[in-house]
Amino acid sequence: MKVTSAEFVKAAVDERGWPRDGIPHVAFVGRSNVGKSSLINSLVNRKGLVKTSSTPGKTREINFFKINGRLYFVDLPGFGFARAPGKVQVHWAPMIESYLSRCPDLKLVVFLLDIRHEPGEHDLMMRDWLGHYATPAVVVATKADKVSLGNRQKHVKAISDALGVEAEDVVQFSALTGEGKGMLWEVIASVSDNR
Ligand code: GTP
Ligand code: MG
Repeated sequence: MKVTSAEFVKAAVDERGWPRDGIPHVAFVGRSNVGKSSLINSLVNRKGLVKTSSTPGKTREINFFKINGRLYFVDLPGFGFARAPGKVQVHWAPMIESYLSRCPDLKLVVFLLDIRHEPGEHDLMMRDWLGHYATPAVVVATKADKVSLGNRQKHVKAISDALGVEAEDVVQFSALTGEGKGMLWEVIASVSDNR
């Protein structure tokens, strides 16, 4: 999809802040620091649309970006950030869970995992939530540039086995090189085109 416009619309901490204008939402979830904000910037070819940081826990609210006036990209705060202040941790689960379970415009969840690591406790919890709410999801292995081509399959298999998905359905992605961008856009476009 050719991105002609990408703009920050609003940040929300609860249901009252969700945009509800009938435009489909695509949400990005995953551990803190996994590369959610970088992936969004890469998809829309804007380096600074979403703030990224090497310090985990940068994104603390649900941020909505409108793409081409026909799609919302939803950047969710990362989970599993142990050093977040207690208050932030306590608010995280209900904020994300209510969005994932109750937002009627949510059409696709892009579930990000670092290609280098086996899914952890929080990743498995997220998988269970997505399964429970039957939200359509695509699994993305981020930071693919950090693993040599020869070792990719081994890493992808560890992720797909743990999540119970097919290895060939896992999109290998790098915000650095742009690898996987075309494939991910195909999945996302299938959601926004079917309106
Ligand atoms: P939170 O907002 O804290 O949940 O983090 P996030 O998931 O949005 O991660 P963010 O995009 O801020 O990236 C975290 C760090 O990983 C930054 O230092 C990025 O530069 C780096 N990073 C993200 N994607 C890639 C990638 O594809 N390759 C490499 N090598 N580094 C990446
Ligand atoms: Mg972020």
